[in-house]
Amino acid sequence: MTKAKMGVIGAGWWATQHHIPSLKTYDKADLVGVADVKPEKAKAAADYYDIPHTYPDHRELLAAGVDGVVIAVQHAYHYQAARDALDAGVHVLVEKPMTLTAADAWDLVARAERNRLHLMVGYTYQFTRHAQAAREIIQSGKIGDLQMVSGIFTSWVESYLRGRPQDYAKAFGFPVTGPEADSYSDPKLAGGGQGHLQVTHPMGMALWVTGRRAAAVFAFMENHDLPVDLVDAFSFRLDNGAAGTMASTGAMRPHQRLDQGFVYTGSAGVLRQDLAGGRLQAQYHDGTSEELPDLTAAEQYPAHLPSRGLTDLILGAGENRAPGEAGARVVEFLEAGYRSAATGQAVRVDSLG
Ligand SMILES: NC(=O)c1ccc[n+]([C@@H]2O[C@H](COP(=O)([O-])OP(=O)(O)OC[C@H]3O[C@@H](n4cnc5c(N)ncnc54)[C@H](O)[C@@H]3O)[C@@H](O)[C@H]2O)c1
Repeated sequence: MTKAKMGVIGAGWWATQHHIPSLKTYDKADLVGVADVKPEKAKAAADYYDIPHTYPDHRELLAAGVDGVVIAVQHAYHYQAARDALDAGVHVLVEKPMTLTAADAWDLVARAERNRLHLMVGYTYQFTRHAQAAREIIQSGKIGDLQMVSGIFTSWVESYLRGRPQDYAKAFGFPVTGPEADSYSDPKLAGGGQGHLQVTHPMGMALWVTGRRAAAVFAFMENHDLPVDLVDAFSFRLDNGAAGTMASTGAMRPHQRLDQGFVYTGSAGVLRQDLAGGRLQAQYHDGTSEELPDLTAAEQYPAHLPSRGLTDLILGAGENRAPGEAGARVVEFLEAGYRSAATGQAVRVDSLG
């Protein structure tokens, strides 16, 4: 097989701005069809990008003989679409957050393993060379035993969380469509706000880079006047005893500088990972240090790489930079965090259903 037959489920903003053009312009992928429950949206995407087939039901696309699918539907629908794909023997890239409950996420991991299929989650940052290097530095033990992880993640998504996606039409350009008004503002579709939409990204990074799971999570979340959380503050303990924090808001504006990054400390040093600035620097207790070349602006958020990464895996090349198992660890972190914010109590991850 020299080309993988690929399909896309969901013809919304992210699929039409990134996944579809990425697959269309990749010589190892043959993008054969797109499905959307709103047939006019599948048609608009197919017309714009010259895709041969459209489907109103993702199961018809799965039955058409694709090797892999990219799933970019609202959060509440991730699980069913991914489950149907895995049950049909189709490899999956599912957008973040992988699912809304830990039980569903681990169920997908088990299905993929059982059926020997690739399962990837849309964690774009993990496709950078800094993510790979940070992972190697921490998991090779260079900073010693991990003791602390502290992250901050500011972003501009408030209008999405308010149900006013057109506020960002100019900033993003939306070649075919912006998100549906309720995709990120209706808790029934989105699960929550800043947590599921944004915190999932940096926690995906932290848990993948460290290779750890959360053991317990305490969170404050504030909606302000929004229908979902806008500002989140998490304290957590990892399964090796390391302590951590993550503070996040979606209230920035497109012209503002963003603060996005982590400090990881261990018994032998510190690693600083600046996602927004594209910097990675380690300083060791023995006086040595290392710094990687900064990421270029184009390298910082390589949104074309996840769909191509799944294509490569199907063809037997590359490694899964955002495996389902790592996605499930984030889902359990967030489920514990949302439960903590609702109850005012710290939540142990092993107490989740
Ligand atoms: N990785 C990233 O950086 C990133 C960025 C933006 C969005 N996303 C994720 O991408 C996903 C989609 O977001 P969006 O902004 O494109 O949403 P959107 O509202 O633009 O599109 C969702 C589409 O899915 C369709 N849909 C729903 N259920 C379906 C089904 N069963 N089969 C086929 N189509 C179905 C809807 O009709 C809609 O057109 C979300 O999970 C979001 O979190 C990821």
